[in-house]
Amino acid sequence: MALAEATGVLAAAGVDSPRADAEWLLVHVLGTDRGRLLVADDLDHEARARFAGLIALRAQRIPMQHLVGTAAFGPVVLHVGPGVFVPRPETELLYAWAHQLAERELAGAAAQFTVVDLCSGSGALAIALAATLPGARVHAVEKSPEATTWLQRNVDGLAADVAARVVVHTGDVTDAGAVAAMVGAPADLVVSNPPYVPSTTPVPAEVHADPAMAVFGGEDGMDVITPMAATIAAILRPGGCVGIEHDDTTGDAVTGLLRGTGDFDEVTSHTDLTGRPRFVTARRRGR
Ligand SMILES: C[S@@+](CC[C@H](N)C(=O)[O-])C[C@H]1O[C@@H](n2cnc3c(N)ncnc32)[C@H](O)[C@@H]1O
Repeated sequence: MALAEATGVLAAAGVDSPRADAEWLLVHVLGTDRGRLLVADDLDHEARARFAGLIALRAQRIPMQHLVGTAAFGPVVLHVGPGVFVPRPETELLYAWAHQLAERELAGAAAQFTVVDLCSGSGALAIALAATLPGARVHAVEKSPEATTWLQRNVDGLAADVAARVVVHTGDVTDAGAVAAMVGAPADLVVSNPPYVPSTTPVPAEVHADPAMAVFGGEDGMDVITPMAATIAAILRPGGCVGIEHDDTTGDAVTGLLRGTGDFDEVTSHTDLTGRPRFVTARRRGR
């Protein structure tokens, strides 16, 4: 199957970016890079069959990342597949905010500091922060046993000095006492991309490949975020910061929640690249 034909198959199946996806799958089959695709037209029989098979699966709206087995997230590449949420580009904004804050406030000469990633999934935020902040000791908390298996696999694949600074916990982020006991010392920074899509929101076909518990946050999208606020207050040291990703319809609900607890100040709403409210940051009171 040629690239043009594959692009047509994907377009007919309603795939958003048919040419880019077809190229990506061809690159995957050939084990080459995109720049060399122009000279890689002569597929042997086996490669041609593999490519056609992958195009057929993509036409069933199986996510690209499941087909190639990995997802890029900021500075890292994660193993993903059925049972774990595929990291999304918008969460890189939360990573960038957390990274900048850690560099500005925490990463002094030889400083050691504690980061907690609540609802860690494949470990995207936890691993990206551990990989780029040598002073960070990172706790990754995830409820789903299947997702935790992917998370642990991703941690095990890190360089030994990075892996040694990431601790994986299977736990429920709505249980403040349990999470505080897992983390032990007060945290300097908490990040979370929890399930937050309201249950009635229509989602693209690919999203159904993510576990429902990773995506949907109840009727208003706040089922996990609301009780998680008490957990964040329990584990953050006074002056420590939190960033929480949320649905574009719940920016006011999340800022209102954090202000309403009385535990946080500097509650700030941040937008994504399309200008939609995407994450909220705050500082634990009591500096
Ligand atoms: C939107 S996914 C985000 C995963 C990862 N942080 C990322 O950005 O790619 C949300 C994750 O929260 C997990 N989760 C859902 N409810 C949870 C809970 N009560 N406690 C801990 N993890 C939970 C899901 O299993 C899923 O892995």
